[in-house]
Amino acid sequence: MTQDELKKAVAKAAVDYIAPRLDSDSIIGVGTGSTANFFIDMLADLKNEFDGAVASSEATAERLKSHGIPVYDLNSAGSLEFYVDGADEANERLELIKGGGAALTREKIVAAVAETFVCIADESKMVGVLGSFPLPVEVIPMARSHVGREIVKLGGDPVYREGVVTDNGNIIIDVHNLDISRPIDVEEKLNNIVGVVTNGLFARRPADLLLLGTSTGVNSIS
Ligand code: A5P
Repeated sequence: MTQDELKKAVAKAAVDYIAPRLDSDSIIGVGTGSTANFFIDMLADLKNEFDGAVASSEATAERLKSHGIPVYDLNSAGSLEFYVDGADEANERLELIKGGGAALTREKIVAAVAETFVCIADESKMVGVLGSFPLPVEVIPMARSHVGREIVKLGGDPVYREGVVTDNGNIIIDVHNLDISRPIDVEEKLNNIVGVVTNGLFARRPADLLLLGTSTGVNSIS
């Protein structure tokens, strides 16, 4: 199977998982990226069975609206039963690296509010130790150099993601070669650097369910 076929398979599995649990008042948190896009396109078939969605990025909001799915501001949405999103890396404790698409801060906010975070990913994303994928960090622009120096003190190699401005008007620094054997510690240390908005480690709030696409089928890991 191609990677896209695996992504479609996990998107379908996520729709199958949430469909029987939805009612007409349900608002679903929806993530960002190519796997989430497959999910959005399949979710459109169910649009008369739930109220609407909260989007983790402007791109996702546009895609949801293009299917006629109402998009709510998180502040007016109240509770979210589900958040469905992809990941750049996942480990067996369902801790994640996210933010390859620069949407990490809004993703983290929506994940924090949702009761159940369903992560959808193809098997290439599963790793023993997080960190081969450079860890995205969203940074207030004026703090770029300061944050870079602090990241070096933590043992990482910061690389400014040229030409990228987040939906929140900030920049992204990708951190290479960081030791992430203790993800919760690293997540907290990075977030404690002045000028960091947040980082792409989802360790304090890991996924609750990982639907992992493999060549032999979709594995449910919780
Ligand atoms: C977006 O900022 C990311 O967190 C995505 O969820 C992540 O990059 C996975 O994207 P793909 O589904 O495109 O691999």
